[in-house]
Amino acid sequence: MDKKELFEHMRAFPKVDLHRHLEGSISAETLVRIASKYGGTLPAYTVEKLRPHIQMDSESPGFSTFLQKFKVYRGFYPCREAIEDVAYTAVMDAALDNVRYLELRYSPSHFAGLNKFKECEVIEWISAAVKESASDFNIIVVPILTISRDYGLELARNTVRYVSQLPHGYFYGLDIAGDEVVNSAKPFSDLFAVAKKAGLNLTIHAGEACGPKNVLEAVIDFNADRIGHGVRSIEDQEVIALLRERRILLELCLTSNVHTGVIASVDVHPIRRIMDAGVPISINTDDPAISAITLSGEYVEAVTKLGFTESELKAINLQALEHAFHPDKEYLKRQLAHLWQ
Ligand code: HPA
Ligand code: ZN
Repeated sequence: MDKKELFEHMRAFPKVDLHRHLEGSISAETLVRIASKYGGTLPAYTVEKLRPHIQMDSESPGFSTFLQKFKVYRGFYPCREAIEDVAYTAVMDAALDNVRYLELRYSPSHFAGLNKFKECEVIEWISAAVKESASDFNIIVVPILTISRDYGLELARNTVRYVSQLPHGYFYGLDIAGDEVVNSAKPFSDLFAVAKKAGLNLTIHAGEACGPKNVLEAVIDFNADRIGHGVRSIEDQEVIALLRERRILLELCLTSNVHTGVIASVDVHPIRRIMDAGVPISINTDDPAISAITLSGEYVEAVTKLGFTESELKAINLQALEHAFHPDKEYLKRQLAHLWQ
C-alpha cells in the first residue's frame, strides 16, 4: 500500500478518540468562515495568514508555544451561533474521519471568554449542537468538562459546582488541562472529589510537560480513572507498575507530544514500550486543528513509524472502549465492539 492508499485505509478504519479538545478542534478554515459570517476578532482573516497563529509546526516545538495558540480562540467567539457552529463542525469533522466514538472535552470558561457569555448558556448551546451533529453524522459523542489550571481556582470551583448539580446527560467526566509546569494541579484536588461524588469520571493532564511524579499525584491524590498523556510515566517503572495494576489508561497523543516538545519525533515515541509493559493505552488527537492532524493520519504514523499492525489497532480501540466514560458501557459495546472483532 502506498502512503495515499494507507491514509484512505486508515480513514475508513473505525476509530475511538478519548482525548480531543473542542477548543483545539476548530480549523483555520472554520474560523475564517465563522468570522465572515458572524464577525469576531482574529489576528488574520485568510486561512494562509491565520495558520501560523493557531497551528504548530514541527520545526519549532514547545509546550508554552502550544498553549499560547488557544489564546486566539478564547478572545474570538462573537455570538451564540458561532459557538454552536464550531461545536457542530468539530463533531462533523471527527465523524467524517470515521471516528465512531468521541469523548470531546471543553472548558465552558474558554468559550464564555472574559465574561462575554454566561457559562451556563455556553454549556446549553454546546450540548445541543453536539447532540444535533452526533445524530446527523452517526457518531457517539460523550462530553467531558475541562477546567484549566491557568484560569484559577475560583472560576474552576464555580464551574464544577454548577456542573455537579446538572441533570444527567451533560458531562460524563472531569479533566484538568493547562500548564502543568507553571500551575500545579494540587489546589484543584478537592474539586475532583466533588465531581466524583456527583458521578463524573476523572481524567487528569499529567506526565506530559512534567515527569512521572505528576502521574503518581493524579492516581493517588486525585483518584484519576485515566491520565491525559501520561507519556512520561515511562521514566519511572514504579509508576508504570501502578498504572498496570490499577488498570489506568493513558490517553496517548503522538503528534501532540512532538509539538509540545515532549518527544523528539513520532518514531521515538514510547507508546509501544508502555503498551508492552501492560499499561492500557489509547491513541488520540488532543488538538487536531492546532497540530493540523486527523486521527486517521495519526494511525498512519503509528503504522509507518512505529510498526503497528491492524490487529494491534483493533485491540487498542477495543481497550479504549473498555475505558470509555460513556454511562452505559454495555450499550456502547453492543453498538461498536463488533467493528474491531
Ligand atoms: N496539555 C495541557 N493542556 C492542554 C493540552 C495539552 O496537551 N491541549 C489542550 N490543553
Ligand atoms: Zn489534551
